[in-house]
Amino acid sequence: MTAQLNPRGDVAVLVPAAGAGLRLGPGTPKALRLLAGEPLLVHAVRRVAAAASVRLIVVAAPAAEIDAVAAMLAPVAPVTVVAGGAERQESVARALAAVPDDVAIVLVHDAARALTPPELIESVAAAVRAGHPAVIPVLPVVDTIKRVRSDGRVLGTVDRAALRSVQTPQGFRHTVLAAAHGAATDPLTDDAGLVENAGGTVTCVPGSELAMKITRPLDLVLAETLLHVPWPP
Ligand code: CTP
Ligand code: MG
Repeated sequence: MTAQLNPRGDVAVLVPAAGAGLRLGPGTPKALRLLAGEPLLVHAVRRVAAAASVRLIVVAAPAAEIDAVAAMLAPVAPVTVVAGGAERQESVARALAAVPDDVAIVLVHDAARALTPPELIESVAAAVRAGHPAVIPVLPVVDTIKRVRSDGRVLGTVDRAALRSVQTPQGFRHTVLAAAHGAATDPLTDDAGLVENAGGTVTCVPGSELAMKITRPLDLVLAETLLHVPWPP
């Protein structure tokens, strides 16, 4: 039985949280590292649970930490915890398997984007509800981007105006995400890419700077400061 948050909600949120956090440096799995005294996963799930249309949350945790993660999240929100896989895509697929068929909309949201505001979760869900089969939150790219050879020689400059940085939550009709995962061959770093590969249409909505992904040590410093930004910013 999948734990329910709001029985009237039409959205399931999958939270891949099984990564090691290698780029953050040595330590516990990234989702369990502390930000202002609480694990990143707690920050992330608290914000997901505050989004009104979320019916259920499925967390893909490191296999060795399932019981600890379930105990940690019990006071935060009703969640289902499953064992993640070796690749992010496998973690998402395992979480997706726990979503009942009658949930129309599925969002996939990185635990590492721990400060994502509930408003962004709602806006992605609303765009799916409005008829877009796959929706991603994006921000403009701020740096100049160049293509380079492996030896460091520059091959060219990419037109930045046509580029976007992609965040999560990414939202999908349940059937669209299930079909895309079913057709997946090589692992990708996001789920919209699977829909693209399957020939589906992916639509952008405005992202949020608060949905930044905590990846490297400096991101934790920024996140400590962003914690004090009220919702919505
Ligand atoms: N993730 C997962 N299962 C994996 C790998 C990643 O559930 N096998 C999750 C991470 O926990 C994270 C999200 O996918 O919430 C985005 O991945 P990333 O930021 O790359 O996190 P890590 O893989 O943990 O970090 P790194 O790549 O630096 O090891
Ligand atoms: Mg990773």
